[in-house]
Amino acid sequence: MAWIQSRKLWVFCLCVTATVFLIVTLQVVVELGKFERKKFKDSSFQDGLYVEEKTMDLNPFPQEALALHGKNTLGVGSYPILLWWSPLTGETGRLGQCGADTCFFTINRSLQHHRMTKAFLFYGTDFNVDSLPLPRSAHHDWALLHEESPKNNYKLFHKPVITLFNHTATFSRHSHLPLTTQYLESVEVLKSQRYVVPLKSKNNLRKRLAPLVYVQSDCDPPSDRDSYVRELMTYIEVDSYGECLRNKDLPEQLRSPATMDADGFYRIIAQYKFILAFENAVCDDYITEKFWRPLKLGVVPVYYGSPSISDWLPSNRSAILVSEFAHPKELASFIRQLDYDDQLYETYMEWKLKGEISNHRLLTTLRERKWGVQDITQDNYIDAFECMVCGKVWENIRLQKQGLPLKRWKAEAMHLSCPEPTTFTFSSPVPLAGHGSSLREIWIPSFQQSKREAQALRWLVDRNKNFSSQEFWALVFKA
Ligand SMILES: *[C@@H]1O[C@H](CO)[C@@H](O)[C@H](O)[C@H]1NC(C)=O
Ligand SMILES: *[C@@H]1O[C@H](CO)[C@@H](O)[C@H](O)[C@H]1NC(C)=O
Ligand SMILES: *[C@@H]1O[C@H](CO)[C@@H](O)[C@H](O)[C@H]1NC(C)=O
Ligand SMILES: *[C@@H]1O[C@H](CO)[C@@H](O)[C@H](O)[C@H]1NC(C)=O
Repeated sequence: MAWIQSRKLWVFCLCVTATVFLIVTLQVVVELGKFERKKFKDSSFQDGLYVEEKTMDLNPFPQEALALHGKNTLGVGSYPILLWWSPLTGETGRLGQCGADTCFFTINRSLQHHRMTKAFLFYGTDFNVDSLPLPRSAHHDWALLHEESPKNNYKLFHKPVITLFNHTATFSRHSHLPLTTQYLESVEVLKSQRYVVPLKSKNNLRKRLAPLVYVQSDCDPPSDRDSYVRELMTYIEVDSYGECLRNKDLPEQLRSPATMDADGFYRIIAQYKFILAFENAVCDDYITEKFWRPLKLGVVPVYYGSPSISDWLPSNRSAILVSEFAHPKELASFIRQLDYDDQLYETYMEWKLKGEISNHRLLTTLRERKWGVQDITQDNYIDAFECMVCGKVWENIRLQKQGLPLKRWKAEAMHLSCPEPTTFTFSSPVPLAGHGSSLREIWIPSFQQSKREAQALRWLVDRNKNFSSQEFWALVFKA
């Protein structure tokens, strides 16, 4: 276990260095607080340093294991090989310890046909129809990690494709390793009073601030949130600091998207009574920092996104759900009511001020998850995903040794499913030119095409021969 900790510390140092490098030079972080995504990118920086890390760490392993990392590859074959087909980790080869089980994790595709290769690991956003590991043998498990928005790869969200996988880790509570709370560090962070601005001060601040704040830089995503907010703005004041519908500027030093998790930024938005917390896509259990951040800061989220959000609220009075209002006009009038009525507003803050979380599903999920969020003392969810697959692979190895029938695992459609994007239809007196067009022109057709892609992909994979992207596209556009 000690070497895992030391590896984590080492990875942490690298992450810090790499993060600074990224922020300063690359500006790759496009959206609010995408820490996890950033972590993935950073992990590829480990690659060049890998060998040094291993020579320090490997003492607890038997001699043949040590050989894995030298020129000599004798040791490959002593442990099941789990091959990352998406080079997410950037690791050319590492022995990972998962409880009592050891697996060899690698991105080295030349091990595709190795007899010990038991599973292929895919990262959803990078899942590419080109060069899939086909033909697939009966003992080749496929495992999918996809915690991100469907907008990053719609074809995975259809039954023909998601059911290709044996093991899943997605934002859905139904997946084998549910990542629904991937943006929530802990119960303590949720209860924390650190940023809470008392209502009296918020009322004073209302002289120069709107009741609502909106900060979004990924404009016109599939959820059509900007259309809603645009309409809402005709009924109630909204301070909008991001690229989308901007009407107010952040201080100079906070303008980079990388500062979305900076203390200064938190202090600014914590002054508001309400935050418009709108996801970029509408899927059950797809819940991001947009929802948790206001709750952490002591601001009431006005939430639009996961239809099942009620299952995840800290208490039954902790957020305002857009879906409960027929029109933005009604939502605006409800917010006004809360803005004028301090007692009513405080009913939404009671759980926070008392530190009472009454939602048992939320508490249990946080307590039982086997991974941490921005916590170097715990595995992250990539480690947890690797270990879930390693554990399943070992389960079958043991059954096989005893001559028992093997276990079967298969993803269900609901492990990753989102409805087709829809546009808001308001009877706005002034039709706004151009607005909503990206949704109608891009997201809806792209979702529809993704259904054809999913069918074509399924057919090609079931045929169990490798195929080229030309073959794939020819099939997609055939009908
Ligand atoms: C990939 O694996 C092959 C076969 O074991 C080995 O010869 C090669 O050096 C490995 N490549 C890397 C980059 O580790
Ligand atoms: C919210 O929860 C409280 C106590 O947990 C309960 O008394 C109240 O009826 C609930 N309200 C709603 C609207 O469900
Ligand atoms: C994995 O899925 C494939 C395709 O559905 C299936 O043939 C295979 O038996 C599954 N493996 C396990 C271990 O469940
Ligand atoms: C399929 O794989 C074989 C052997 O690796 C290769 O020669 C062939 O070009 C591949 N075919 C396609 C369509 O990618």
